[in-house]
Amino acid sequence: MKHIKIIRLKEVDSTNSFCKRYPADRLKGALVVIAKRQTGGRGTKGRSFSSEEGGLYLSIMRKPRNFDFSDTFSVMINSCVAVCKTLEKWGLNPIIKWPNDVLVGGKKISGTLIENTLLSGNALLSIVGIGINVNNELPSYLADTATSVRAQKGGKVRLNRVAHILVRQLGKSFTVEEYKRYINWFGKQIKLICNDKEITALAVDVDNDGSLVCEIGGEIKKINSAEISARLL
Ligand code: BTN
Repeated sequence: MKHIKIIRLKEVDSTNSFCKRYPADRLKGALVVIAKRQTGGRGTKGRSFSSEEGGLYLSIMRKPRNFDFSDTFSVMINSCVAVCKTLEKWGLNPIIKWPNDVLVGGKKISGTLIENTLLSGNALLSIVGIGINVNNELPSYLADTATSVRAQKGGKVRLNRVAHILVRQLGKSFTVEEYKRYINWFGKQIKLICNDKEITALAVDVDNDGSLVCEIGGEIKKINSAEISARLL
Protein backbone atom coordinates (compact mmCIF):
# COMPACT_ATOMS: atom_id res chain seq x y z
CA MET A 1 0.00 0.00 0.00
CA LYS A 2 1.38 3.41 -0.96
CA HIS A 3 0.85 6.39 1.37
CA ILE A 4 -0.18 4.69 4.53
CA LYS A 5 -0.49 6.75 7.69
CA ILE A 6 -0.78 4.88 10.98
CA ILE A 7 -2.26 6.50 14.10
CA ARG A 8 -1.91 4.59 17.38
CA LEU A 9 -4.21 5.54 20.25
CA LYS A 10 -4.25 4.48 23.88
CA GLU A 11 -8.02 4.74 24.07
CA VAL A 12 -10.82 5.85 21.77
CA ASP A 13 -14.56 5.44 21.62
CA SER A 14 -14.31 3.50 18.35
CA THR A 15 -11.57 3.45 15.72
CA ASN A 16 -14.29 3.54 13.03
CA SER A 17 -15.79 6.67 14.63
CA PHE A 18 -12.31 8.22 14.85
CA CYS A 19 -11.94 7.68 11.08
CA LYS A 20 -15.36 9.25 10.44
CA ARG A 21 -14.24 12.37 12.34
CA TYR A 22 -10.95 12.56 10.43
CA PRO A 23 -11.04 15.32 7.77
CA ALA A 24 -11.51 13.43 4.51
CA ASP A 25 -9.61 16.07 2.52
CA ARG A 26 -6.46 15.25 4.53
CA LEU A 27 -6.64 11.59 3.55
CA LYS A 28 -3.91 10.50 1.18
CA GLY A 29 -3.80 6.79 0.41
CA ALA A 30 -4.84 4.89 3.51
CA LEU A 31 -5.29 5.83 7.15
CA VAL A 32 -4.90 3.02 9.68
CA VAL A 33 -6.07 3.69 13.24
CA ILE A 34 -5.15 1.22 15.97
CA ALA A 35 -6.37 1.58 19.55
CA LYS A 36 -5.29 -0.29 22.68
CA ARG A 37 -8.88 -0.25 23.88
CA GLN A 38 -12.24 1.14 22.80
CA THR A 39 -14.83 2.56 25.16
CA GLY A 40 -17.64 2.26 22.61
CA GLY A 41 -16.57 -0.48 20.22
CA ARG A 42 -19.29 -1.04 17.64
CA GLY A 43 -20.35 -4.22 15.88
CA THR A 44 -22.73 -4.88 13.02
CA LYS A 45 -26.52 -4.39 13.33
CA GLY A 46 -26.05 -1.77 16.08
CA ARG A 47 -24.45 -4.21 18.52
CA SER A 48 -21.53 -3.30 20.76
CA PHE A 49 -18.12 -4.93 20.47
CA SER A 50 -16.26 -5.76 23.68
CA SER A 51 -12.88 -4.01 23.37
CA GLU A 52 -10.72 -4.56 26.45
CA GLU A 53 -6.96 -3.98 26.39
CA GLY A 54 -4.99 -6.79 24.74
CA GLY A 55 -7.20 -7.09 21.67
CA LEU A 56 -6.53 -5.62 18.24
CA TYR A 57 -8.93 -2.82 17.29
CA LEU A 58 -8.06 -1.45 13.90
CA SER A 59 -9.76 0.59 11.21
CA ILE A 60 -8.50 1.29 7.75
CA MET A 61 -9.96 4.20 5.80
CA ARG A 62 -9.47 4.62 2.06
CA LYS A 63 -11.02 6.58 -0.77
CA PRO A 64 -11.35 3.88 -3.40
CA ARG A 65 -11.49 5.13 -6.97
CA ASN A 66 -14.42 4.05 -9.18
CA PHE A 67 -16.11 2.32 -6.26
CA ASP A 68 -19.47 0.76 -6.88
CA PHE A 69 -21.70 0.04 -3.85
CA SER A 70 -22.14 -3.51 -5.11
CA ASP A 71 -18.42 -3.88 -4.41
CA THR A 72 -19.03 -3.80 -0.66
CA PHE A 73 -18.70 -7.58 -0.63
CA SER A 74 -15.22 -7.40 -2.15
CA VAL A 75 -14.24 -5.15 0.78
CA MET A 76 -15.64 -7.80 3.14
CA ILE A 77 -13.81 -10.57 1.29
CA ASN A 78 -10.53 -8.71 1.62
CA SER A 79 -11.00 -8.05 5.29
CA CYS A 80 -12.08 -11.61 6.24
CA VAL A 81 -9.37 -13.29 4.17
CA ALA A 82 -6.73 -10.87 5.53
CA VAL A 83 -7.79 -11.80 9.08
CA CYS A 84 -7.71 -15.54 8.27
CA LYS A 85 -4.28 -15.30 6.67
CA THR A 86 -3.02 -13.37 9.69
CA LEU A 87 -4.36 -15.96 12.14
CA GLU A 88 -2.82 -18.78 10.10
CA LYS A 89 0.61 -17.26 10.82
CA TRP A 90 -0.06 -18.24 14.44
CA GLY A 91 -0.93 -21.79 13.41
CA LEU A 92 -4.68 -21.31 13.85
CA ASN A 93 -7.33 -22.83 11.61
CA PRO A 94 -9.83 -20.01 10.93
CA ILE A 95 -13.29 -20.45 9.44
CA ILE A 96 -15.37 -17.62 7.98
CA LYS A 97 -18.92 -17.37 9.24
CA TRP A 98 -20.85 -15.50 6.58
CA PRO A 99 -20.63 -12.69 6.07
CA ASN A 100 -18.09 -11.05 8.38
CA ASP A 101 -17.10 -13.18 11.35
CA VAL A 102 -14.04 -15.34 11.72
CA LEU A 103 -14.25 -18.33 14.05
CA VAL A 104 -11.62 -20.60 15.53
CA GLY A 105 -12.67 -23.84 17.22
CA GLY A 106 -16.31 -22.91 16.59
CA LYS A 107 -16.02 -19.62 18.52
CA LYS A 108 -15.79 -16.04 17.25
CA ILE A 109 -12.29 -14.58 17.24
CA SER A 110 -12.82 -11.61 14.90
CA GLY A 111 -15.49 -9.41 13.36
CA THR A 112 -15.52 -6.71 10.69
CA LEU A 113 -17.68 -3.60 10.52
CA ILE A 114 -17.69 -1.84 7.15
CA GLU A 115 -18.96 1.72 6.98
CA ASN A 116 -18.99 3.37 3.57
CA THR A 117 -19.83 7.06 3.30
CA LEU A 118 -20.59 9.10 0.20
CA LEU A 119 -18.68 12.37 0.03
CA SER A 120 -19.59 15.30 -2.15
CA GLY A 121 -18.84 14.84 -5.84
CA ASN A 122 -19.65 11.12 -5.70
CA ALA A 123 -16.40 10.18 -3.98
CA LEU A 124 -16.63 7.35 -1.53
CA LEU A 125 -14.97 6.88 1.81
CA SER A 126 -14.60 3.28 2.87
CA ILE A 127 -13.95 2.48 6.53
CA VAL A 128 -13.21 -1.11 7.44
CA GLY A 129 -13.05 -1.80 11.16
CA ILE A 130 -11.61 -5.07 12.36
CA GLY A 131 -11.55 -6.43 15.89
CA ILE A 132 -9.48 -9.48 16.76
CA ASN A 133 -9.45 -11.05 20.20
CA VAL A 134 -5.72 -11.47 20.70
CA ASN A 135 -4.53 -11.32 24.34
CA ASN A 136 -7.66 -9.69 25.82
CA GLU A 137 -9.70 -11.31 28.55
CA LEU A 138 -13.18 -12.09 27.30
CA PRO A 139 -16.16 -11.11 29.43
CA SER A 140 -17.90 -14.09 31.04
CA TYR A 141 -21.07 -13.58 28.96
CA LEU A 142 -18.99 -14.34 25.83
CA ALA A 143 -17.28 -17.42 27.29
CA ASP A 144 -19.36 -19.89 25.27
CA THR A 145 -19.30 -18.02 21.98
CA ALA A 146 -15.97 -16.18 21.71
CA THR A 147 -12.29 -17.06 21.84
CA SER A 148 -8.92 -15.33 21.48
CA VAL A 149 -5.53 -16.07 20.00
CA ARG A 150 -4.19 -16.31 23.55
CA ALA A 151 -6.84 -18.87 24.56
CA GLN A 152 -6.15 -20.93 21.45
CA LYS A 153 -2.36 -20.82 21.81
CA GLY A 154 -2.32 -21.20 25.59
CA GLY A 155 -0.31 -18.00 26.08
CA LYS A 156 0.12 -14.39 25.02
CA VAL A 157 1.34 -13.47 21.53
CA ARG A 158 2.94 -10.23 20.28
CA LEU A 159 0.03 -7.89 19.58
CA ASN A 160 2.14 -5.50 17.48
CA ARG A 161 3.21 -8.37 15.27
CA VAL A 162 -0.45 -9.36 14.72
CA ALA A 163 -1.24 -5.74 13.78
CA HIS A 164 1.74 -5.57 11.44
CA ILE A 165 0.84 -8.78 9.59
CA LEU A 166 -2.83 -7.75 9.36
CA VAL A 167 -1.97 -4.35 7.85
CA ARG A 168 0.26 -6.10 5.32
CA GLN A 169 -2.52 -8.54 4.39
CA LEU A 170 -5.02 -5.67 4.08
CA GLY A 171 -2.89 -4.22 1.32
CA LYS A 172 -3.60 -7.26 -0.86
CA SER A 173 -6.75 -8.14 -2.71
CA PHE A 174 -8.40 -11.53 -2.51
CA THR A 175 -11.01 -13.35 -4.56
CA VAL A 176 -14.36 -14.86 -3.58
CA GLU A 177 -12.75 -18.30 -4.13
CA GLU A 178 -10.19 -17.49 -1.45
CA TYR A 179 -13.02 -16.37 0.84
CA LYS A 180 -14.86 -19.65 0.21
CA ARG A 181 -11.72 -21.65 0.98
CA TYR A 182 -12.29 -20.65 4.62
CA ILE A 183 -15.85 -21.99 4.62
CA ASN A 184 -16.40 -25.55 5.82
CA TRP A 185 -20.17 -25.38 6.28
CA PHE A 186 -21.50 -25.67 2.73
CA GLY A 187 -23.82 -28.69 2.60
CA LYS A 188 -24.62 -28.29 6.32
CA GLN A 189 -27.72 -27.11 8.16
CA ILE A 190 -27.58 -23.54 9.43
CA LYS A 191 -30.02 -21.35 11.32
CA LEU A 192 -31.21 -18.08 9.75
CA ILE A 193 -32.47 -15.38 12.08
CA CYS A 194 -34.66 -12.49 10.94
CA ASN A 195 -36.64 -10.27 13.35
CA ASP A 196 -36.38 -12.89 16.13
CA LYS A 197 -37.75 -15.61 13.83
CA GLU A 198 -35.51 -18.60 13.20
CA ILE A 199 -35.57 -21.05 10.33
CA THR A 200 -33.27 -23.90 9.42
CA ALA A 201 -31.73 -23.95 5.96
CA LEU A 202 -29.14 -25.90 4.03
CA ALA A 203 -26.12 -23.71 3.17
CA VAL A 204 -25.25 -24.13 -0.50
CA ASP A 205 -22.89 -21.35 -1.58
CA VAL A 206 -21.91 -17.69 -1.33
CA ASP A 207 -22.64 -15.73 -4.48
CA ASN A 208 -20.26 -13.26 -6.14
CA ASP A 209 -22.49 -10.42 -4.88
CA GLY A 210 -22.02 -11.63 -1.31
CA SER A 211 -25.42 -13.17 -0.75
CA LEU A 212 -25.76 -16.53 0.92
CA VAL A 213 -27.33 -19.21 -1.26
CA CYS A 214 -29.50 -21.60 0.76
CA GLU A 215 -32.01 -24.34 0.23
CA ILE A 216 -35.17 -23.69 2.23
CA GLY A 217 -38.08 -26.11 1.96
CA GLY A 218 -36.72 -27.52 -1.31
CA GLU A 219 -36.28 -24.08 -2.89
CA ILE A 220 -33.01 -22.26 -3.57
CA LYS A 221 -33.01 -18.77 -2.04
CA LYS A 222 -30.49 -15.93 -1.97
CA ILE A 223 -30.10 -14.30 1.43
CA ASN A 224 -28.87 -10.76 1.98
CA SER A 225 -26.81 -10.15 5.12
CA ALA A 226 -28.42 -6.76 5.79
CA GLU A 227 -31.70 -8.49 6.66
CA ILE A 228 -30.69 -11.80 8.10
CA SER A 229 -28.07 -13.27 10.44
CA ALA A 230 -26.84 -16.83 10.16
CA ARG A 231 -25.83 -19.23 12.91
CA LEU A 232 -23.77 -22.34 12.25
CA LEU A 233 -25.22 -25.48 13.85
C1 BTN B 1 -18.96 -7.48 14.58
O1 BTN B 1 -18.47 -8.53 14.95
O2 BTN B 1 -20.17 -7.26 14.68
C2 BTN B 1 -18.07 -6.42 14.01
C3 BTN B 1 -17.07 -5.98 15.03
C4 BTN B 1 -16.14 -4.90 14.52
C5 BTN B 1 -15.26 -4.39 15.62
C6 BTN B 1 -14.22 -3.46 15.12
S1 BTN B 1 -13.01 -3.08 16.34
C7 BTN B 1 -12.36 -1.83 15.35
C8 BTN B 1 -13.54 -1.13 14.73
N1 BTN B 1 -14.08 -0.13 15.62
C9 BTN B 1 -15.31 -0.41 16.02
O3 BTN B 1 -16.00 0.29 16.79
N2 BTN B 1 -15.73 -1.54 15.46
C10 BTN B 1 -14.71 -2.12 14.60
